[in-house]
Order: sequence, then structure tokens, then C-alpha cells
Amino acid sequence: MFPRHRPRRLRTTPAMRRLVAETSLEPRHLVLPMFVADGIDEPREVPSMPGVVQHTRDSLRAAAVQAVDAGVGGLMLFGVPGEDDKDPVGSAGSDPDGILNRALADLAAELGDATVLMADTCLDEFTDHGHCGVLDDRGRVDNDATNLRYVDLAVAQAAAGAHVVAPSGMMDGQVGAIRDGLDDAGHTNVAILAYAAKYASAFYGPFRDAVGSSLVGDRRTYQQDSANIREALREIDLDVAEGADAVMVKPALAYLDVLRAAAEVSPVPVAAYQVSGEYAMIAAAAANGWIDGPSAALESLLCIRRAGADIVLTYWAVQAAGWLA
Ligand code: PBG
Repeated sequence: MFPRHRPRRLRTTPAMRRLVAETSLEPRHLVLPMFVADGIDEPREVPSMPGVVQHTRDSLRAAAVQAVDAGVGGLMLFGVPGEDDKDPVGSAGSDPDGILNRALADLAAELGDATVLMADTCLDEFTDHGHCGVLDDRGRVDNDATNLRYVDLAVAQAAAGAHVVAPSGMMDGQVGAIRDGLDDAGHTNVAILAYAAKYASAFYGPFRDAVGSSLVGDRRTYQQDSANIREALREIDLDVAEGADAVMVKPALAYLDVLRAAAEVSPVPVAAYQVSGEYAMIAAAAANGWIDGPSAALESLLCIRRAGADIVLTYWAVQAAGWLA
């Protein structure tokens, strides 16, 4: 008896597998998150993210050029101010002379429109308490006062040359407030990538090292509960209605169901963020010889694409572009 149906026929050769592959992973799909720190003379390794550094403005410029040459789709910039520059309202984030805005201007001058330059629009790196917003007199994150600060950040980032601002603080109404603020300031062509479905996640641990976060406690009053998916779809609807040009699901690997659901309903491109903890897990296992790092990294990225991401933020963007070449 011969089985009539032989799915293995379509797996017989590399050429056959390439022909029938449903999903592709290309360097253009990948966005590289980068950190730039104030007051350092040399790039500084992030211990929990082997291969990732806090850049100086000079090393950032060189690494950004290298990433663009490798063909990545975009760059996402995070600023790390000196401890003395942190305050309760995160002033350094909206200061044109603050580290993030200066670095954006450097990259805009260096790269022009050769890539898509994105900026993290959030206060947590810049506040002395480490929260993503400003606090009220009882120490709670004040939604509407925070949105006013996000508008200042976004306008400063657009003025510095960002093509895309990416509000990541999960305040209600942040996208609408930022859209109005950008338009009023004449930045009608600057796009908003909304971190629409961002969960309160333990997988951000290494990132908090990378930005020297001052946070004590957690972000559970603003980031989403891992138990929920309906809420993510509501957030996406609201962000699109407020004018988001693209939406994001974050983290990626433990939230592929959310990503799939988002991709099914979103009228705008969907991004997924393979976060610091996801990177660190694979990097650590690979360093121990327990897993093949490049294969595991590429597999995870392809699967994030398969689940529905148009765009993937990943600390492997440059290496992955090399592995794919
Ligand atoms: C907030 C922000 C965070 C990340 C991106 N933007 C940290 C947080 O919400 O605590 C995490 C990224 C990562 O873990 O790689 N500005």
C-alpha cells in the first residue's frame, strides 16, 4: 500500500523547500534597537546582553552606518542619560541637548533617508523614579500629565530628525495626544509606531540593565496583564482610531497568539519586539554550547514573522542580516 498523500515530496530538496516556503525573513523586516549613553568615552558592554553595548555618540554613528549597510529596515534609538540628568519629569528626554535628541540629530545628519530612524518615546530612561510617566502626589503614574510630557518628547524627537516616534508607555490616549502635538508643530509626516499591546513582562529584565533603569517596583498599573488578549485587541483598536501608523506587540515569543490575533484585525502594519530577555536566553544557552545560537535566533525570528509580524525589532538584526546573506 502506497500512501496517496506524501507531504514529504515538498520537502525533498532545499530548492523545493525554498519554492514552497510560506514565510520569508529578510533584513528589511528587521529593526535594530540601539542604546546611546551620555558621559561615557568608550562603548560599554551590557552584561546581561552579550554583544549589545551602550554606545557613545561616535560609536553609535559608526554602528548605525554598519547596520544600514547590512540592509536592516530601521533603527530604534534609546537614550541613557547620566544619573545627574534624571529628574521626576524626565526633562532630559525633551531637551534638544539631551543625549537621545543629540544622537538622533547625529544619525539624521549621517544617514538622511537611507534608513527609517525611530525613537523610543517614553520617560522611564529619564526619570529618577524610573516610571514611564510623571507621578501624582500619591506616587501614582498620572495618565494625562504624562501625555503632555510625551508630546514634548515626540516633538523634540521629530525636530531632531526621527522619521518615526514610538510611544512605549501604555498611557491611555497617548497616540492621539502625540498625533495632535506633532501636527501642531508641523511634523505631519512623522509617523507613530504605537506600542499598542505591551505586557508587564519579566522578559524586560536585561533592558533595564541596558538603560540603567532606576525603577523600584513594577509597571502593572499601565502595562498589560499577561493573562489577557481581549484587552490587547482593544488597545490596538484605540491606537488605530487615534492615528497610529503601525502597532506593536511586545514581547514576541511568549505572545505569538496575541501577535496572530493582532495581524488578523490590524489595518496598519504590525511590529513585534523580540525583547532583551528573549535575546539573553538564547545568547546564554548558546554561550554554554546548549543550543546553536544563529539557528535558534533565525528560527525565532522566522516564527515571529509567521505569526503575523510585518516588522521585527531584534538585537540580532545586524547579525541576522549576515546569516541570511
Ligand atoms: C520602555 C521600554 C522598555 C522596553 C522598551 N521600551 C522597558 C520597560 O517597559 O520596562 C523593553 C525592551 C526590551 O526588553 O528589550 N521605555
